[in-house]
Amino acid sequence: MWWESIRNFFVSGVAIDLGTANTLIYSRGRGIILNEPSAIAVNKDTGRVVCVGREATLMLGREPYDTVVHRPMKDGTIADYDLAEKMLRTFFHNACRREYRRYCKLVVSIPSSATQTERRALRNAAHSVGANKVYLIDEGLAAAMGAEVMLRSPHAQLLVDIGGGTTNITIATMTGIIASKSLEIAGTRMTQDIIEYLHRKHKLVVDEQTAEQIKINLGAAIEQDRDVSMLVAGKSLSNYKIREMNILQSEVVEALDHTLSTIIEGVRQVIELSKPAVAVDIHRTGVTLAGGGSLLRDLNRRFHLELGLPAQRASHPMEAVVTGAGMLLDRPELLKRFAGADLVRNEEWVDVPDMPAAG
Ligand SMILES: Nc1ncnc2c1ncn2[C@@H]1O[C@H](COP(=O)(O)OP(=O)(O)OP(=O)(O)O)[C@@H](O)[C@H]1O
Ligand SMILES: [Mg+2]
Repeated sequence: MWWESIRNFFVSGVAIDLGTANTLIYSRGRGIILNEPSAIAVNKDTGRVVCVGREATLMLGREPYDTVVHRPMKDGTIADYDLAEKMLRTFFHNACRREYRRYCKLVVSIPSSATQTERRALRNAAHSVGANKVYLIDEGLAAAMGAEVMLRSPHAQLLVDIGGGTTNITIATMTGIIASKSLEIAGTRMTQDIIEYLHRKHKLVVDEQTAEQIKINLGAAIEQDRDVSMLVAGKSLSNYKIREMNILQSEVVEALDHTLSTIIEGVRQVIELSKPAVAVDIHRTGVTLAGGGSLLRDLNRRFHLELGLPAQRASHPMEAVVTGAGMLLDRPELLKRFAGADLVRNEEWVDVPDMPAAG
């Protein structure tokens, strides 16, 4: 026991949420030390990293001729291993030199739908930043812990984490996951919906950043009492000239409608397949929403209207996963308990040779 405490004192721990849209790093004792878009800009000819994160996304659409900006994550897993590894290494180098120097334990979240190959790729990328020991934790489990819905009650709780690429639907109690499902539609799909709507309805071509801004400014899950609008600039499909036009909020609501219905239908199916006692619990406890997608205006009201359940947003929805993963570092008994209950899937200590010295 005392040996365990001494060991924990010397072992630095880092938790990572390597998301499709954003990467967050939590350090034991320091809290969240990095929150950046999952993006990397590299030189086309040499492959050298130009910049990562926010700096790289600022270049999107206006990249210099010799630079390409990549998003190496897709649907919550690694789409391009080399780039994901380079991005993670740079984030680590910038954010956690202190942790990097010591014996380091890493907890990384991964969607429940990830294949063995995707799990291996993520574990290898985590090792490449210098971690001695790597745990992969189910993203839904981490979000449920981080949103504080999981550890507070023996009754079943429902958490829906709507990220960039994936929506994780998790039913959990304080003893573990009862059911989980991962849908490959989330915030990125919503942005795409807006691009396609403007193309179809107004013959206006806008880029991803503009559509993202429209979603944040006007996006809503249900019709609002007062219809507001936003001036949007794009390229006209008829003559390829720049055109400015006012887009109404009601149009954005219409554009997002189908994706939201699909997500809510996925949640309904998970509830319908659950045991009677679990369904009764959820009927009382309701739905907690997390992830960046949960920031959409009135999403909780739409969940309430369509599912007839109370719905609320977690207090720090975009930090829930990394906070939950970090809880396992701060409380080794949780790691043991969930590993014992086979809830930290793919639980495995993987030892690698000595860590590289920090630069
Ligand atoms: N105010 C907002 N309204 C609507 N959507 C938003 C808002 N703010 C952020 N988002 C969306 O949230 C998504 C990013 O959320 P998050 O950081 O939770 O995803 P992620 O964890 O990187 O992705 P994943 O979990 O799928 O791997 C983006 O699609 C972004 O457009
Ligand atoms: Mg996420």
